[in-house]
Amino acid sequence: LSGPTLHGRHVLVTAGPTHEPIDPVRYIANRSSGQQGFAIAAAAARAGARVTLVAGPVSLPTPRGVERIDVETAREMLAAVEAALPADVAIMVAAVADWRAADEASQKLKKDGTGAPAPLALAENPDILRSLAGRADRPGLLIGFAAETENVVDHARAKRAAKGADWIVANDVSGDVMGGTHNSVHIVTADGVEDWPDMPKTAVAVRLIERIADAVAGR
Ligand code: C5P
Repeated sequence: LSGPTLHGRHVLVTAGPTHEPIDPVRYIANRSSGQQGFAIAAAAARAGARVTLVAGPVSLPTPRGVERIDVETAREMLAAVEAALPADVAIMVAAVADWRAADEASQKLKKDGTGAPAPLALAENPDILRSLAGRADRPGLLIGFAAETENVVDHARAKRAAKGADWIVANDVSGDVMGGTHNSVHIVTADGVEDWPDMPKTAVAVRLIERIADAVAGR
């Protein structure tokens, strides 16, 4: 890396999906692989930061020099994030499940023989990004991701305001981004929108960390 580093800074990253149990053998999940968040954590460590990576269930190796905390559910992810504070920069890359099963069954749900499916009531999960934005120890630079399938930038602008984030990194996941190796993103800040070309997730990570190091140095 050329330019400013992140030496002496604590960077907190969330990555991967969450799994929300329905019963002992079933869960609600999504297609996030964790690749983008892990690449960002790796790039932050290479830039000299102390990095805490709170990871949902993924099958990826821990990047060199990164402290990794594995969690399963959104509520566990929130607790791990809060325990890792304070942070200079927080980058919330995880695809947190919006909903969990309202009641986790202690035994495996069974078909009842009538042909009627088991009811599945949902409860809303805590929003980790928004809760960070409202804290007294809010990270100095708070970055969210927005995975959208349409009107990507408009939704990202609205999300930036609604969540109280400084930047939103928006990506179109209508193709094979989730689980794929490439990403094309838009960086939505208070100053406007930067459209980045399609590139490997590892390159997105390096460029984003460079951008973050510049912003932190300029503060
Ligand atoms: O609202 P949406 O899920 O699209 O917002 C995406 C952003 O919010 C991501 O940065 C994601 O990590 C974060 N998020 C969160 N907690 C949730 C839902 C989303 O931190 N429960």
